[in-house]
Amino acid sequence: MFETLSKAPGDKILALMGEYAADPRPTKIDLGVGVYKDEQGTTPIMTSVKKAEQQILSSGKTKTYLGISGNKGYGAAVLDLALADSVDRSRVRIAQAPGGTGSLWVLMQLVNRARPGATVWVSDPTWPNHNPIAENSGLTVKTYPYFDTETRGVKFAEMLAALDKLGKDDVVLLHGCCHNPTGANLTPDQWDKVAASLARSGALPFIDLAYLGFGDGLLEDAYGTRKVISSVPEALIAFSGSKNFGLYRERVGAAILIARDAAQADTAYSQLLNIIRGAYSQPPDHGAEIIRVILEDPQLRAEWEAELNAMRGRMIRLREKLSEAIRQRSNSKDFDFIAAHRGMFSLLGLENSVVEHLKAANGIYMIGDSRINVAGIPEDRVGELADALLAAIK
Ligand code: LMR
Repeated sequence: MFETLSKAPGDKILALMGEYAADPRPTKIDLGVGVYKDEQGTTPIMTSVKKAEQQILSSGKTKTYLGISGNKGYGAAVLDLALADSVDRSRVRIAQAPGGTGSLWVLMQLVNRARPGATVWVSDPTWPNHNPIAENSGLTVKTYPYFDTETRGVKFAEMLAALDKLGKDDVVLLHGCCHNPTGANLTPDQWDKVAASLARSGALPFIDLAYLGFGDGLLEDAYGTRKVISSVPEALIAFSGSKNFGLYRERVGAAILIARDAAQADTAYSQLLNIIRGAYSQPPDHGAEIIRVILEDPQLRAEWEAELNAMRGRMIRLREKLSEAIRQRSNSKDFDFIAAHRGMFSLLGLENSVVEHLKAANGIYMIGDSRINVAGIPEDRVGELADALLAAIK
């Protein structure tokens, strides 16, 4: 049977994790995969998460099934966190799903049931896993203009012009905040324009909300999502708890659908649950239960928010330090965009040969398109990193 298969391409982000791990140089720097790192370069379990886990361990009485939609308390808490009162809940349904990726997967399957082969418009560039998830679900992927390689900001006029041409059979994948891989994000005013365009065209917004709280704050980062869903009749959201709760390997996310009315929401939700049952039956609970416990307990929630704020503050500080170090050394503002970007990533706009050189010569690892994870910048070696970057682009 297997002789019919040829080798599948590896995932460039996960492959780089392996390359980095195998590099014996003690001075190596990991700016690759999108996981948060602290001053020591580790990805610790958040204290609020530890406390929630202790509660769960001591009070848990059963591991029986929860059902296809997963942990209901978690679902309600995620809706409060991400959507608040931006849309009438009678039109909203949520199913816990394994990570942001699992959420994207089941929602893409749902789109393909509603509009087989529909076109999903993704930003140019986008997270490299968006394409296979959509294509493996039977959908067609096309791109809309997004990143301006000159300014390293958003080509907003071109983006909007492209969105304005779409129709009601199209799906538009938007990064709710903290754009991956570029770090360039829409302003509130630009979100207003995107929402108005989608309301006019009838294209379906599909929001990937994987980094809520990693950009400017929980409220600020939810602005775009809330604006869009309060402006249109239908929308999809893939939520992830991997980054903001540091629960990466627990695979905790949620697939959210918003329909025209309660009856259509019920119908679409029955299809979503049918997709889940036919794929993995039910989601794993542990990560969802942790998030439920944290969000339902005011003290733990405050502790989690403080930890999240500290992580975000550190990433912003690292952005500023690296920009500043490069500016001082080069006497140019060419890399000031790193400080202006938000979230975990910045796309530096370097040639692939420069990226390869930095890896081979300096042990500095970034994704091949020159995306860096700013949380991976060692704070005490910012100058060294700036020197290496400047030497490599000379
Ligand atoms: C990333 O973009 O690095 C993360 O979302 C991890 C992943 O699965 O690619």
